[in-house]
Amino acid sequence: MRICGFSLLIALIAAPAFAQSADVTILAATCSGCHGASADGSGGIPGLRGQQQAYLANQLKAFKAGSRPATVMNRLAKGYTDDEIAGLALHFSRLR
Ligand code: HEC
Repeated sequence: MRICGFSLLIALIAAPAFAQSADVTILAATCSGCHGASADGSGGIPGLRGQQQAYLANQLKAFKAGSRPATVMNRLAKGYTDDEIAGLALHFSRLR
């Protein structure tokens, strides 16, 4: 019984952290249709892989705010919270 309670406690502590990292991976997967499976970009679409985290976050915030003109990113960026933008920027900046 004590072991069960302990396992439950660990699961409760571990679950939010796991859910957060899984969410960013899922969100980032939706970008690959345009930015490429390796996030290298293609055609007129810029690559994201290995870009500075601050640069990526600032661009996404500018798209969201409408201060950077765009064809699709201005619309897409509106669907993400600032926390998700930070997570996505970190994710793509870490891709090598
Ligand atoms: C429908 C295609 C499409 C999808 C999906 C998409 N993008 Fe984009 N992205 C673009 C295009 C096109 C541009 C160039 C700006 C514009 O015209 O919207 C761009 C530009 C960007 C830029 C600016 C890069 C630079 O070098 O300045 C960032 C950052 C970015 N996208 C991040 C993302 C992220 C993160 C996702 C997933 C959440 C995503 N994009 C999903 C098409 C897409």
